[in-house]
Amino acid sequence: MKNFYQNKVVWVTGASSGIGESIVKELSNQGAKLVLSARRKEELIRVQKENLLTDENSLIMILDLEDYSKIKNLPKLVIKKFGTIDVVINNGGISQRSYAHDTSLNTYEKLMKVNFFGNIALTLAVLPYLQKQRKGWISSISSVAGKMGVPLRTGYSATKFALTGFYEALRAENDKNGIKICLVYPGFIRTNISKNALLGDGNRQNKLDPAIQNGIDSRECARKILKAIANEKQELIIAGSREKLGLSFNKFFPRLFTKILSKVSVT
Ligand SMILES: NC(=O)c1ccc[n+]([C@@H]2O[C@H](COP(=O)([O-])OP(=O)(O)OC[C@H]3O[C@@H](n4cnc5c(N)ncnc54)[C@H](OP(=O)(O)O)[C@@H]3O)[C@@H](O)[C@H]2O)c1
Repeated sequence: MKNFYQNKVVWVTGASSGIGESIVKELSNQGAKLVLSARRKEELIRVQKENLLTDENSLIMILDLEDYSKIKNLPKLVIKKFGTIDVVINNGGISQRSYAHDTSLNTYEKLMKVNFFGNIALTLAVLPYLQKQRKGWISSISSVAGKMGVPLRTGYSATKFALTGFYEALRAENDKNGIKICLVYPGFIRTNISKNALLGDGNRQNKLDPAIQNGIDSRECARKILKAIANEKQELIIAGSREKLGLSFNKFFPRLFTKILSKVSVT
C-alpha cells in the first residue's frame, strides 16, 4: 500500500462520521486529495479541519444519497478541481432496527434509495470518466448483513445484497477497462450506525447497540479497507469472531443457524 494513495483523488461518501471519517483520517496522512461527501456540511468542515486538509487538497461535496437523481452532475465539479477521479469509496448508508411486520413500505423505500440507488448513482456518474482514463478503483461498503439475512434488518440486508449483485456484474463488465471493484463486508464496527438506524416508522433508533459499542475500532476498519483497495482485492470481510462464526454456521448448518438466529440477540 506504500504511497498508493499519494496524490490520488479519492471520493469518500459518508465522510462526516464513523467509517468514512476514519477513512478520511487515514488518507489525509497518506497524501491523497480528498472529496468529502455527506449531507451535513458543518460535520464535513469539522472533519476537513481536524485532519488539517486545505481547500487545495480537499473538496467538500454535499450530497443526499436519497435524492440520487442530483448526483449525476457532481463528478464534473471534481474533474474541474482535480483533473481526475481515481478512487470512489461508496460508504454512506443507514441501517435498520425493526421487524418486517413492524416496518412500513416507506421505510423500505428509504433504505433502498440511500443504500442502493444513491450508492450506484455515484458509481454510474463516475464510470464514464474511469472508463475513459482506463483505470480506477471503486469500493462499496456492504455489511455482513449483505452476506446473510439478519433479524431486524430485512430492508438493510436487502439493500446490501442488491449491491453485491450490482458490483459483481459491474466488475465483470469493466475488468477489461482497468476498473477494480472491492466489496467490503464489515461486521460490528464502533460508529453511530445503530443510533442512526431506522425504526419501522422511519424514525431514528437513537440508541447505541451493545454489539456496536463493543465492535471493531473504525480506524482499524478504515486501514483494512484502504489496504484491500490498494491490493485490488475483490472482497474483504472485517468482522469479529461472533460474526465470522455466524457466516460459517450459515454456510454449513443453515437450518440450525436459522434456529439460533431466531433466538439470540443481534444488537
Ligand atoms: N458500523 C457498523 O457496524 C457497520 C457494519 C456493516 C456495514 N456498515 C456500513 O458502513 C457504512 C458507514 O456507516 P458507519 O458505521 O460509519 O455509520 P455512521 O457513523 O452512521 O455514518 C453514516 C454516514 O453515512 C452518511 N449518510 C447517511 N445517510 C445519508 C444520505 N441520505 N445522504 C448522504 N450521506 C448519508 C452520514 O452522513 P450525513 O448524516 O452527514 O449525511 C454518515 O457520514 C454504511 O454503509 C453502513 O451500512 C457499518
